[in-house]
Amino acid sequence: MALQLARGAVTAHGTIGPMSDESSPRPAYDSAFLRACRREPVPHTPVWFMRQAGRALPEYRKLREGTAMLDSCMRPDMVTEITLQPVRRLGVDAAIFFSDIVVPLKAIGVDLDIVPGVGPVVAEPFRTARDLDRLPVLTPEHVPYITEAVRALVGELGATPLIGFAGAPFTLASYLVEGGPSRNHARTKALMYGEPELWSQLLDRLADITLAFLRVQIDAGASAVQLFDSWVGALPAQDYRAFVQPHSARVLAGVGDVPRIHFGVGTGELLHDMGAAGADVVGVDWRVPLDEAVRRIGPGKALQGNLDPTLVFAPDDVVRRKVHEVLVAGKAAEGHVFNLGHGVLPETDPDVLARIVDLVHAGV
Ligand code: CP3
Repeated sequence: MALQLARGAVTAHGTIGPMSDESSPRPAYDSAFLRACRREPVPHTPVWFMRQAGRALPEYRKLREGTAMLDSCMRPDMVTEITLQPVRRLGVDAAIFFSDIVVPLKAIGVDLDIVPGVGPVVAEPFRTARDLDRLPVLTPEHVPYITEAVRALVGELGATPLIGFAGAPFTLASYLVEGGPSRNHARTKALMYGEPELWSQLLDRLADITLAFLRVQIDAGASAVQLFDSWVGALPAQDYRAFVQPHSARVLAGVGDVPRIHFGVGTGELLHDMGAAGADVVGVDWRVPLDEAVRRIGPGKALQGNLDPTLVFAPDDVVRRKVHEVLVAGKAAEGHVFNLGHGVLPETDPDVLARIVDLVHAGV
């Protein structure tokens, strides 16, 4: 453990320069993943999968037996093992920290749970100014298990980068205001359009929490971060710019010492503005081909994506053709990190994911 902690300390802020000081190399700095994020030449296109740690893996299901999702997120031994499982099995170029976007809210005392097959459910939804009092500032003392798990992981991972992550203010607000998953985010939008002042205060609080949660992960050694704004595709671009972008931009500006990936689903109309919020890498879902995404986003960004997650159920030759199409379209980008257009579906055969990794690495 002592060794792992020491290595975690060395690799904290591991991407500012190739060396953290005169003598200690940063093992992940020259990885294909971080190079692609920085839009530098790569030996092969790097690949990882959103939700690569999870129910698609039998070893995950076994380890999680009898432990509730949020409890597992607070146990550094489980977090470390679950994060490493897909790296071992699939040969991906990066690990993503095993946690959930609602963990920081739980940590500051919001009464919520993750219900299997449903998602996050909040006991008392947020609707009025008084509810702001239930969102105190997050400090590292709220999440010691995060610091411990990231440090242990960075030691275990060596040259494989660890991606930290958090939920963006809009997506977190959606869970808090709706009280759970929502198809059309009606109450969230009603608050946004109807009480813009309260909305702004709510997103401001959430931006503070998100930023603090990402800083804990970076300070413990995460070498990139992904800000998930999964549900922001519900907004038109004009309203995204007015009601959401300034808050996401403040979060992204606060973590500028590592590459920042910004992702949402159904965000074809928002890609430019999400890049302009301060991302180094814009995550694209499967609806917009990457060469078209480059046109929408403009220069100076790397792209991440965007194989349709359902394609893993197609015949092998179709998988191969579609991986090829994504790789070809990705060449239009200044940097390309291969990924799915959204998370791995629980029914996915992990062998197909491993095959995709091989195809991407071979440059098929
Ligand atoms: O990507 C990874 O491998 C890291 C782990 C990760 C989880 N959640 C673990 C998890 C990440 C990055 C997340 C982020 C997350 N959580 C997002 C943004 C990503 C996205 O999918 O858009 C969102 C919207 C959530 C909220 C959430 N938590 C949902 C919708 C669910 C699924 C509910 C269900 O059971 O279908 C969760 C629970 C959750 N988070 C699981 C995992 C592995 C499943 C819980 C289980 O295994 O019992």
